[in-house]
Amino acid sequence: MCSGEINRVLSLAIENDTGNHAMISKLAALAKRVADSRPVLRVVEVFDRRSDNRMTELGMLSQAFEFIKINGVDGDYFEFGLWRGKTFTYAHRMKKRFRIPEMMFWGFDSFQGLPRTDDDKDNIWSQNQFACSEPELRKILRRNGFRDNEYRLVPGFYKDSLNDNLHRHLANRHAAIVYVDCDLYASAAAVLAFICHYLVTGTIVCFDDFYNYKGSPDHGEQKAVTEFLREHPNFMFLPYLDYSPLGKSFIVQRND
Ligand SMILES: C[S@@+](CC[C@H](N)C(=O)[O-])C[C@H]1O[C@@H](n2cnc3c(N)ncnc32)[C@H](O)[C@@H]1O
Repeated sequence: MCSGEINRVLSLAIENDTGNHAMISKLAALAKRVADSRPVLRVVEVFDRRSDNRMTELGMLSQAFEFIKINGVDGDYFEFGLWRGKTFTYAHRMKKRFRIPEMMFWGFDSFQGLPRTDDDKDNIWSQNQFACSEPELRKILRRNGFRDNEYRLVPGFYKDSLNDNLHRHLANRHAAIVYVDCDLYASAAAVLAFICHYLVTGTIVCFDDFYNYKGSPDHGEQKAVTEFLREHPNFMFLPYLDYSPLGKSFIVQRND
């Protein structure tokens, strides 16, 4: 779209304000060309990705927060796999939007990136991938509006950090929303074995990489979920929303 063309149609509109058909159809064609022009489409795309209307991670979290607000599901936000805090920050934005000031945020990460894995299937990842130190993440969170008393970070690899001491520390807490974004089967399995103590009927659990490994049920987070449900018949995970290219969420039903 060139500015000369816009000027021509606009001068035609100014000279001829009787609203005749030719001018209206010229204006309509111009509007269509503007709307379809590459820079405008690019801006729309950026806003679309950032908006919570599309089922991106932000959209997913927006729906999850509205769900717990409507249904009165009380509890904290737990995230496993923080890297540089993108989804943690999205969730914090939603906490503010849906006005849940009492919700505590818990974040769990090695702060050294992914652990070593001996499973050949995991060769799409590498050891230490997604490393971000704890001080660096705290800086990012502060920049994004987190107050220090709104969140707690639990450092360490899950096989060490998700321990009995932590259970004692979290006694009487419930999870309203759980975000699992730790990529590997072993990591997701450790998370589920730990977090199940805090799940209630109505908890939303999101798995950012559920459909990874080409959607194979024998790998990654999906395998961990299948095994967990087989071993814990008192839990049902009701499929809720698919999001992003690889994510899936569930609504927890507890039958005990
Ligand atoms: C893909 S990144 C998380 C991305 C993040 N949610 C975001 O919004 O950008 C995966 C994270 O999981 C962490 N992680 C994976 N397995 C882990 C384990 N067993 N113990 C601790 N952290 C782990 C890594 O350190 C990494 O920060």
